[in-house]
Amino acid sequence: MPAARASIVAALLAGAAVALAVEPAPRAYGERPSVDELAELGRAMFNDPRLSASGTLACASCHDPARAFGPNAHTRSPFMDDDPAHDGTRAIPSLRYAQFTIRFTEHTTDDEETHGVDGGPTGGFTWDGRADTAREQALLPLFDEREMGNRDAASLARRLAAAPYAARFRRAFSAPGRDVLADPKQTVAWMALAFEVFEQGREFAPFDSRYDRWLAGRATLAPAELRGLALFRDPAKGNCDTCHPSQRASSGRAPLFTDAGFIAVAAPRRADLPPAAASATIPVLASRARGAEVDLGLCRSGRPGLSDDPSFCGRFRTPTLRNVALRTSFFHNGSVKSLRDAVAFYATRDTDPARWYSRNADGSVRVYDDLPADVVPFVNREVPFQPRPDGKPRLDEHDIDDLVAFLRTLTDADAEAAVGEITGHAAR
Ligand code: HEC
Ligand code: HEC
Repeated sequence: MPAARASIVAALLAGAAVALAVEPAPRAYGERPSVDELAELGRAMFNDPRLSASGTLACASCHDPARAFGPNAHTRSPFMDDDPAHDGTRAIPSLRYAQFTIRFTEHTTDDEETHGVDGGPTGGFTWDGRADTAREQALLPLFDEREMGNRDAASLARRLAAAPYAARFRRAFSAPGRDVLADPKQTVAWMALAFEVFEQGREFAPFDSRYDRWLAGRATLAPAELRGLALFRDPAKGNCDTCHPSQRASSGRAPLFTDAGFIAVAAPRRADLPPAAASATIPVLASRARGAEVDLGLCRSGRPGLSDDPSFCGRFRTPTLRNVALRTSFFHNGSVKSLRDAVAFYATRDTDPARWYSRNADGSVRVYDDLPADVVPFVNREVPFQPRPDGKPRLDEHDIDDLVAFLRTLTDADAEAAVGEITGHAAR
């Protein structure tokens, strides 16, 4: 790996103090580009495949603006190209509502929600919370060889200099008498900021799903959807609300359907990967070979103090459920392929594990098959995973249908038509 690129990645992986190596310098004292300039350049870059080494992959290829900035039917989600060695291991998230992501903290105490009780690790961008800001996050795909594949800041700056908006970029970010594009580090720092500002725009947080309109008294919900909402909030049934809050904050802000907490739900291993090594302990080496190890999430995010502690392994950040009906692969590894199955997983993970997990050579079910054995004690077993006292699942088949009906009310208005296509596709 070339040194410049290695240092950017190393800075990102270095953990809590992750920060851009270079902060963007103002053009001149007191003179800064406007939010509009930043957002417009952010948009142009977001849609520009020329910023990738292959010339074919833009941010928008994976984060489709017409699909709530998540993958579409043509995205080889979550696996990037035909070369198995290049497989991405994580599902592509929607970028809508990501602007509300708080910085990572190991201990949250939200008086309103948890009444001073430590809510555990929370926040940060990506499934394992490794980046604190969208600015840092944007550098990951730009310099990841499996994604946009830029070798270093200089090669990315050269690609930018050839873009049709390069003149605008120069005007916006160059100090008097200087050319920002001649300084690759400054160029990358401004790019990262422009991505962040673009991702803070209204189109990334429209809050106009049918559920939002219902909350505002401007729409009705069907009986099945209302039953689903009640199950979602019932602490003895769905209990979904504890991690995916559905009610307005006391500030009046519409609900985000995530508390950004890190939980091990033990999503199944992806069926197309070889079985994980039978080792009882956390794998030592981070191998890049396809499927050679398990994705341990938070304890491999590079955050100091969390490294390889089994109680932090297997934990991933709770995603928002807004626009979840647009997805075709679920959980951090994309192993579950329909929304109904994702909900059914909560109901029957522990009552019918054979439905979800692979088998050992002797035919026994390999429960929690995408986690090493020493992490298993830290898997979440509260309601809805915890069976009823009579051993039955907390949610029956009708309940699951109702929950799915409710989750389908969380699609933003501009993407509603796309849900129909997905349902049609799944039904075939
Ligand atoms: C090849 C597909 C792909 C491309 C191209 C891509 N991303 Fe992503 N994006 C992903 C995946 C996969 C994740 C989850 C990564 C993880 O958890 O490690 C992600 C995560 C993110 C997140 C974090 C969201 C959250 O809620 O934590 C942001 C922000 C983001 N991408 C922005 C961008 C920007 C900006 C670009 C272009 C510079 C980009 N992405 C290019 C696939 C892609
Ligand atoms: C204890 C916290 C917690 C509870 C309770 C909970 N979830 Fe989740 N949910 C998570 C976490 C964490 C993930 C991501 C796990 C992963 O990817 O490994 C997740 C993921 C999901 C996903 C996949 C979303 C995506 O983008 O891939 C769906 C759907 C979902 N939850 C629905 C529900 C429903 C419905 C309920 C109630 C029946 C519920 N959750 C209860 C924490 C929780």
